[in-house]
Amino acid sequence: MVEPRRVSRMFLGKKEAMMTPKVKKAIFPMGGLGTRFLPVTKSIPKEMLPIVDRPLILYAVEEAKAAGIEEFIFITARGKGAIEDFFDHSQELSQILLDRNENAKQALLQDMLLRPGQVCHIRQQDPLGLGHAVWCARHLIGPTEPFAVVLADDLIKSSVSCLQQMVSAYAGGHMVAVQEVALQDVSSYGILEGMTGHGATIRATGIVEKPKPEHAPSTMAVIGRYILDGSIFSILEGQQKGHGGEIQLTDGLAKSLEKADPYPYLTGFKFQGERFDCGSLRGFLRATLSYAMDTEELREEIRSFGEAHFL
Ligand code: UTP
Repeated sequence: MVEPRRVSRMFLGKKEAMMTPKVKKAIFPMGGLGTRFLPVTKSIPKEMLPIVDRPLILYAVEEAKAAGIEEFIFITARGKGAIEDFFDHSQELSQILLDRNENAKQALLQDMLLRPGQVCHIRQQDPLGLGHAVWCARHLIGPTEPFAVVLADDLIKSSVSCLQQMVSAYAGGHMVAVQEVALQDVSSYGILEGMTGHGATIRATGIVEKPKPEHAPSTMAVIGRYILDGSIFSILEGQQKGHGGEIQLTDGLAKSLEKADPYPYLTGFKFQGERFDCGSLRGFLRATLSYAMDTEELREEIRSFGEAHFL
């Protein structure tokens, strides 16, 4: 059995740090229906909804880039073609911007692009759940290779990208981003159980998907950032449907903890930053206001609108 190394990578010896494989690939599951945003999500992917002027998926990709991710695996579905187009060249638009001397806008579009061969799109033909979406990428990741999973509808505002914080602290096994939630909210999250340790990284012996408050083992909730060991794929392979009739990633993680080998441990990582649940209307609105307040030309507008309408 491999013993967990719960110290931050920053504090590992040179040899030990070298032994922990680098996280180079990230999966972005986008196969969900986004029913909470109907009717807009009937023809627009939830991940293309903008917070101010950038779609959610761009925030997620930028976060992953800052964490050193080199390969981007998009799990999409029918009607999500706009995501593919968004990260592709638009020669005509670029030319028009250049002709108009709008060089800053042209450079912005150029910076956003993912390089050829850096991005791969996989169709999840049926929305069978997050565990199923991750499993769809099984042929692109090695059986012992660590990889990230980023849910674009969980937007995290932080000075150091949340995934970057996790990659720095990662020392093997499965790692999930966590934060405390109110007891009445536990039924919306995967919840850790059997926690030990202090500081930013904690060890957990189990994880439960969306428990009722009266059955919740803790209030430590999993947020949409993961670093998983490739061994999860063999577990997801035979995974049965769980909560909501979907194949749950949480159930796969719980099962992998029951196995004695090769990586029977789970780390919860308490990230620094503010998280917005942009899969809900409330969280989406809060994120919009928060990011707009960070934008100089909008800040005063929001203040005066608020004073005129709400005070
Ligand atoms: P959600 O639980 O938010 O589901 O999925 P959803 O379908 O996106 O939205 P609602 O609840 O109907 O409004 C959490 C994450 O898992 C992905 C989603 O795209 C989202 O990022 N997911 C979910 C998949 O990729 N495939 C699935 O089959 C289900």
